[in-house]
Amino acid sequence: MGHRWLPPTLWTFDTFIVEIIRNFAFALHSKLQLMHLSDGIYKVQNLAFTDLAQEYGTPLFVYDANKIESQYHRMVNAFDVEKLKINYACKALTNINILKLMHGLGSGIDAVSIEEIKLSLLAGFDPQAIVFTPNSVGIDEIEEAIGLGVRINIDNIEMLEYFGHHYPDLKICIRINPHVMAGGNSKISVGHIDSKFGISIHQMPLVLRIVENQKIHVEGIHMHTGSDILDVEVFQYAADILFNQARHFPSLDYIDFGSGFKVRYKENDIETDIDQFGKLMSGKFNTFCKETGMDLTLVFEPGKFLVSESGYFLATTNIIKQTTSTVFAGINTGFNHMIRPMFYNAYHEIINISNVTGIPKLYTVVGYICETDTFAYNRKINQISPGDILVFKNAGAYCFSMASNYNSRLLPAEVMIKDGESYLIRKRQEFDDLLTNQVEAPIFKAERVSS
Ligand SMILES: Cc1ncc(COP(=O)(O)O)c(C=O)c1O
Repeated sequence: MGHRWLPPTLWTFDTFIVEIIRNFAFALHSKLQLMHLSDGIYKVQNLAFTDLAQEYGTPLFVYDANKIESQYHRMVNAFDVEKLKINYACKALTNINILKLMHGLGSGIDAVSIEEIKLSLLAGFDPQAIVFTPNSVGIDEIEEAIGLGVRINIDNIEMLEYFGHHYPDLKICIRINPHVMAGGNSKISVGHIDSKFGISIHQMPLVLRIVENQKIHVEGIHMHTGSDILDVEVFQYAADILFNQARHFPSLDYIDFGSGFKVRYKENDIETDIDQFGKLMSGKFNTFCKETGMDLTLVFEPGKFLVSESGYFLATTNIIKQTTSTVFAGINTGFNHMIRPMFYNAYHEIINISNVTGIPKLYTVVGYICETDTFAYNRKINQISPGDILVFKNAGAYCFSMASNYNSRLLPAEVMIKDGESYLIRKRQEFDDLLTNQVEAPIFKAERVSS
C-alpha cells in the first residue's frame, strides 16, 4: 500500500513534519515538473530539451519521473478510505526503471501478459501485488501465472469453470462487463455489449451458480469500461452496478474499478477531477462497506493518469514540403514509434522548440513511414525549418510500449529525468538489433558460401 494521506486532525508531531516536508517537495516538483519556457528555452526540470536532443539524439522519449510521483500521490490523496490499492496498468509504459519507480511508490501492478508479469517481478514487485487480467490468452499462460503466484482475474465463464475445477484452492477475481458505453474512442471503449472483455452482467446468475457449485473463492470483482472517460457520471453508474454485484460474494476482499481517468491533452482540455471523483467514490465505498459489514480494499488500475503527461517525444524535422493545398513537415519518426494519432485519433500537442519566437503557421506533421502516418492535420506550430526539433506532449502512455520496427526502423532511446538529472534508460536500437533472432536458412547460407 502506498503512502496514505492522513487528515490533519490525526497528525502526530512526526506525521506533521513528514507532511510538511512532503508538501514542500510536491510544491517544488510541481514547479519543476512541467515543460516550461525559461529564458527563451523549453525545459523540463531545468534541463533544456535541445540539450537532451543533442546528448541522446532523436527520435527520443523523455519521462519526467517527478511528474509520475506527483500523479501517484495526487491519486492516493484523492481517496479517503481505510484500504486503497493503486495497481499501475503497466501496458502504458513498461520500462523496468518506470516499474521500479512505481514499486518504490508502493503501487501494485495490473498486468495483461506473462511477459508483463515477469518484468514486474524483475522490478521487485511481490507476486501478490500483481493482478493478471488476461483476455483471450491460453490456459497454459494463466497456469504459468498461477505458478508465479500472482493474482488472477477471470473474464470468461469457461475459464471460471476450468480454474474452479482444477485449482480448488485458488482465489480469483471476476471481471464483469457492465455494458456501459464509456471511453474516448471506440477502440478504447471496452465495457459495452459487443466488447470481448469481461463476463456479461447478464450472465451473473450463471456465474453465481458456478461459484456456489464449485465452491470457488472469489476474492475480487473488477470492471474496466474504457479509457479517456469524459463523463464521470457514466463511471459512477458502472460503479453502482459493481457494488450491487459485490453483495453476492461474501468472501470478497477487494473491488477493482479499473481505470479510464481522463488526462489533459491541450490547454483548457477536460481532465478527470480526481479530487471530486475520489470524494464521491470514497463516500460510496465507505457507505457500502458499512452497510454490508464487508472489510474491502478499493482498487484502481490507472495507466494514463500516472504516466501520460510525464512523457515527451522529440523528433527532428527532415523536410518541409509544400503541395497545392498543404504544407507538410516531415519528421524522422512515424507510426512505428508513436501510433496513437493514427490508431485512435489521439491528440498530442506539438511544439517547435527550435523556433520559440517564430510566427505560427499551419502544418500537417507527417512521419517517414511508407503509409499515411499523419501526426497532426493543419496544426498551428511556430514556423518549422529542416533540422528543427519538435516536441510531442503526453508521450508517456501507450507510445513507446506500442512502438515497432515497421519499415525496419530502429526503436528510439528512452531517458528518465529525476530530480534534475537525466538518465538513459533504454539505448537506441542499432542495425544489428534488427537481425537478432533472425535465422538464416541453411539454403541461403550455402548460397552465400558458394558465391
Ligand atoms: C484492464 C485495464 N485496466 C486499466 C487500463 C488503463 O487504462 P488508462 O490508461 O485509461 O488508465 C486498461 C487500458 O487499456 C485496461 O485494459
